[in-house]
Amino acid sequence: MSTSSSSTQPINIRRSIDEGHGADGSETPALSRDTLAALNEFLSEAQAAASEQSNPFSENWGLSQFWYTEETAAVLAKEVEEAAGPSGRIACIACPSLFRQLRAAHPDASAHLLEFDPRFEALGNFALYDYREPRAVPEDLKGAFRVVVADPPYLSEECLRKTLETVKVLAEPSDEGPGLYLLTGATMQKLAKQLLNLRPTKFRPQHKTKLGNEFYLYASADAAAQRLGGWDGGG
Ligand SMILES: C[S@@+](CC[C@H](N)C(=O)[O-])C[C@H]1O[C@@H](n2cnc3c(N)ncnc32)[C@H](O)[C@@H]1O
Repeated sequence: MSTSSSSTQPINIRRSIDEGHGADGSETPALSRDTLAALNEFLSEAQAAASEQSNPFSENWGLSQFWYTEETAAVLAKEVEEAAGPSGRIACIACPSLFRQLRAAHPDASAHLLEFDPRFEALGNFALYDYREPRAVPEDLKGAFRVVVADPPYLSEECLRKTLETVKVLAEPSDEGPGLYLLTGATMQKLAKQLLNLRPTKFRPQHKTKLGNEFYLYASADAAAQRLGGWDGGG
C-alpha cells in the first residue's frame, strides 16, 4: 500500500489566483468565489480518488484492521520470502497487506492468503477463513507451507489459541521445523511461548494507524531472529 497520498498537500487554487497580478500591476482574469469553490471541490474529490486507487482497501476497524506501514510490510515480505527459500510456500493468515506486498515485490514467491474479509479475494490465492473455525481450511492447504505468518485480529487468549491451531494445521512437517511468525501484542508473549515456542524478535512492526499497545514480531527460528536484529532480551 502506498503512503504517497499521506504526504500530498491538499490542493487549493485560491493562492495562485490571488497572486495573479502582472509585473505592471494589471490583473489576470479573476474567477468568481463560486467558481473557485466548485473548482476546489472538484480538485479535492480527484485527490481522494487518486489516494483510494493507491490504497484501495481502507481499514475497517470493526474487523480490527490495522495495516502495516510500507516499510514494515517490505521487511516482513523480504523475511518470509527468504525463510521459505525458492521452493517453499508461504501462508499469510489475516495479514492481507503483507500478502499484497509479497505479491508485488516477490512475484515468484508461492503465497496464499487466509482472511475473513472477502474484499481480498481480488488479490488471488485466497481462502476465506474465520479464526473461530481453526481447522476449517481447504484440504489442499493442510501441511503445505514451509512458512506460516499470522496476525490474529484480537488480543485474547481464545483468538491466539485458535489462530495458532490453524498455524499448526497449515505448516508442513519438516525436520528443521517450519518457519513460523506471529504478529501480536507484547501481552501475548507467555502464551505464544507456551503454545508454539514463539519468541519476540527485536524488530518492532509499525502500523499506519498508531496502536495503543506494544506490538511484537514473534518467530520460531534462530536464523529468523538473526535477520531481524536478534531475540528480544526476555524471549
Ligand atoms: C490486526 S489485522 C492484521 C492486518 C495486518 N496488520 C496487515 O497489515 O495485513 C487482523 C486481520 O484479521 C482479520 N479478521 C477480522 N475478523 C476475523 C475473523 N473472525 N477471523 C479471521 N480473521 C479476521 C481482519 O480482516 C484483519 O485483516
